[in-house]
Amino acid sequence: MAASLKTTATRIEFENPFLLGSGPPGTNAKVIAKSFDLGWGGVVGKTISLDASKVVNTAPRYGKLKATDHPDTVVGFENIELISDRPYSVWLEEFKQLKKQYPKKVLVASVMEEYRKDAWQQIIREVQATGVDGFELNLSCPHGLPERKMGMAMGEDPSICEEVVGWVKEVAKIPVWAKMTPNVGDPKVPAKAAIKAGADGISTINTILSIIGVDLRTLKPMPTVEGYAVPGGYSGQAVRPIALRHVMEIARAIPGVPISGMGGIDTGFDAAQFILLGAHTVQVCTGAMLQGYEVITKLKEELLKVMVDHKFETLEEMRGKSLPFFSTHADLVERQRAAKAAKTGANRDAETWKGEIKKETDSLTGH
Ligand SMILES: Cc1cc2nc3c(=O)[nH]c(=O)nc-3n(C[C@H](O)[C@H](O)[C@H](O)COP(=O)(O)O)c2cc1C
Repeated sequence: MAASLKTTATRIEFENPFLLGSGPPGTNAKVIAKSFDLGWGGVVGKTISLDASKVVNTAPRYGKLKATDHPDTVVGFENIELISDRPYSVWLEEFKQLKKQYPKKVLVASVMEEYRKDAWQQIIREVQATGVDGFELNLSCPHGLPERKMGMAMGEDPSICEEVVGWVKEVAKIPVWAKMTPNVGDPKVPAKAAIKAGADGISTINTILSIIGVDLRTLKPMPTVEGYAVPGGYSGQAVRPIALRHVMEIARAIPGVPISGMGGIDTGFDAAQFILLGAHTVQVCTGAMLQGYEVITKLKEELLKVMVDHKFETLEEMRGKSLPFFSTHADLVERQRAAKAAKTGANRDAETWKGEIKKETDSLTGH
């Protein structure tokens, strides 16, 4: 049997595990339709709310971190973009149309509301009636919205997280994913609260609070809007190690929980690592913004290559395969001792650090 990218998570069937993450890539029906045509396994729409008139964006609102030695390479991306400023009624119509046109494609609606039960239940009921396949609750946007007690203001507080997911689950008939913030010390705590309240799955990570830099000509922090700035959300390949750690922590703490993993996925090889750490599906936002929607073809080929190389026929066989290899630092030390490495004295500081720090750092780097 050939390797297959098909998978099922939270009762939803995906032709492949790649979804476009909430953000500019899924910002209206036209681009969502284009993504379906190009072969994305699903799309999470840009986050919507009941009253788009309260959403006012700035320009500029993005900043790029370039590699020091390769100024053409973007390693990190910051944004201070808010949720969708397009009218709610237009979104409802577009969801309906998209599901009529693409009944078999997976469309997940990302929603966010103020801290009011009636508002959350209204948006869930009305969006659900359009026929979307699932919800992603944005409990994690780190900038702008927390000033209105929305987004990350909810996701960083486990008791609010539990309460809001509970409100949603009272009326949702379709699967609900809670999208978590990485801007917390222990990501397991709010994720467990969301699952306790009935969330069907966890999406992680949203962006990381950041300052992309200070302009040394003007001495102003960036992105600069009329001379001022706010910390924004960091994404792109630089955040991948942090995202992998969050997925791992949650997968180990809540075994079998369906996770939609994201943060810095640019290639199918990146996606494979999320799946090996327990993700059921993966999402790509910045990677699609920087490489274009067509990147989906390459993403699928690369993930399939990993599966074929390791003789995995299904994603289920591959999922979580790297999780058992996490341990404690004390255990690593014990294993090395048992392997007699310590016997040579090679791991002692006095033997290691003799002044050629670059070479010595390399010798302690595992890849
Ligand atoms: C410009 C931009 C806008 C975003 N807007 C949203 C949003 O509306 N809702 C949301 O849940 N996440 C939003 N995100 C976060 C992404 O969905 C994703 O969680 C994060 O960027 C990490 O993945 P990535 O590195 O693939 O972008 C946005 C990200 C970017 C870069």
